[in-house]
Amino acid sequence: MITSLKTPLLVFLAAGCALAACWASAPPAALAQDTIQLPAVTPAGGKPLLEALAARHSDRTFNPDTALTDKQLSELLWSAFGVNRPDGKRTIPTAHGRSELSVFAVLKTGVYLYDPAANTLTLALAGDHTTKYAKSPLTVLYAAPDNLTGAFHAGSAYQNVGLYCASEGLANVVRTTGADELKGRLSLPEGFQVLVVQSIGLPG
Ligand SMILES: Cc1cc2nc3c(=O)[nH]c(=O)nc-3n(C[C@H](O)[C@H](O)[C@H](O)COP(=O)(O)O)c2cc1C
Repeated sequence: MITSLKTPLLVFLAAGCALAACWASAPPAALAQDTIQLPAVTPAGGKPLLEALAARHSDRTFNPDTALTDKQLSELLWSAFGVNRPDGKRTIPTAHGRSELSVFAVLKTGVYLYDPAANTLTLALAGDHTTKYAKSPLTVLYAAPDNLTGAFHAGSAYQNVGLYCASEGLANVVRTTGADELKGRLSLPEGFQVLVVQSIGLPG
């Protein structure tokens, strides 16, 4: 009698322990959610601008296992394209104020579209695609119209992010190589395409 109960009980306990261990080790943003609410950004702190400019550089080696904190992720995306005024305008200038840029975050849990107004990430493509991008724990994709204006928008955003990384001691590199990795798999506005990508993480 006891023997017949033992196996199911052990299986149950083992499953419970595995679930508890999983839950305890997973940071909030690692959960595969359709929508991730990012922490509100308090625009304070960081290195003085001139120190960040002096520190900006490309770094191509990343620690693949350590993700950015949710606070860093939120501040980084806000630097890229966040709302910084009550009228909804952004941390970068855009032609005619039309904000023609889509910013995606490639995380281990999926590829997410950044919604600057709601300060959320919405799942755009399931699965771990980080291996396509230098195995950095975060890669930001900049999609815009394939013209001069679109390139200006992407460039403004990646430079803001580069300065944020310099301020936070994060490694980053901008690449046009890999811009087509998810071609046809992301839902983009008419005429948009991923022009450039930026891999980010703790230095390796
Ligand atoms: C539009 C653009 C495209 C780039 N493409 C690549 C790339 O495909 N691969 C790469 O390793 N670096 C790429 N880079 C990074 C440059 O190689 C790097 O910025 C340059 O060597 C200067 O180094 P620094 O950023 O440390 O000043 C790119 C940079 C820009 C701005």
